[in-house]
Amino acid sequence: MESFKLNRNIAQLAILQRIELAGPVLKRIRKLFGRYLFSNFFSKYLINVSSIAEQYYFLMKREYTFIENFLRTDQNILSIGAGIGGLELLIKKNIINTKISFIEKNYISKKIKYGWDNANLEAYNSLYLLEKFLLINSVEKNSFHIFDFDKDKFPNEKFDLIISLYSLDFHYNFEIYHNYFKQISKDDTVIIFDTIRPEYFNNIFKKVTILKKDDNTLHKSKRIACRFLLK
Ligand SMILES: C[S@@+](CC[C@H](N)C(=O)[O-])C[C@H]1O[C@@H](n2cnc3c(N)ncnc32)[C@H](O)[C@@H]1O
Repeated sequence: MESFKLNRNIAQLAILQRIELAGPVLKRIRKLFGRYLFSNFFSKYLINVSSIAEQYYFLMKREYTFIENFLRTDQNILSIGAGIGGLELLIKKNIINTKISFIEKNYISKKIKYGWDNANLEAYNSLYLLEKFLLINSVEKNSFHIFDFDKDKFPNEKFDLIISLYSLDFHYNFEIYHNYFKQISKDDTVIIFDTIRPEYFNNIFKKVTILKKDDNTLHKSKRIACRFLLK
């Protein structure tokens, strides 16, 4: 069976970032015991690591199919809020000579609250574990860079593709990155992200294409690919 390599700490992050990986029992435990115990204890110790590794792999393979048409060799890619980086790992494995930069947060909120976060304080990642996940799955260390959203100067270079699944404008406002995108975009840079307000972006980009509709989820978001930043 195809799968990713994960250890327990990385599998816990996968669960926190992709709550659909928690089965019905774990979700019930979350309801019964609350967000603190779930985020800090049950999500780590009440899981089967190899089963999470397989499920996360298939989830990311599916995500890969939605963005596949935008991938080319030799691309410079920026990933915003990649989580542990399963999608980016698949890109590295399938497309030659891609360079990937990650911007992520480096802490796990004590009581994770999902949903829109105006102050953008919620985070569920560890930059150490993101790097570890890529390395144990044989990605070369010099082929990616990781930037801490709260501490580092962001990369100042032009990107061909910017990806942010269930992060930018799903949990926090696009405007946090808007000016930065002006600096790092070329005319043909494609920016892919999930949002509940796709029409808002018709005034910001010349071309907005809907790639996927999540009609059966709480958020009812759409995944869009945007081109030609106007302002
Ligand atoms: C729901 S998870 C999605 C992870 C991954 N993209 C996926 O599809 O599995 C959202 C991620 O966004 C990160 N995040 C939150 N605020 C961020 C910010 N301002 N910049 C970059 N990442 C951020 C969180 O730490 C978390 O890893």
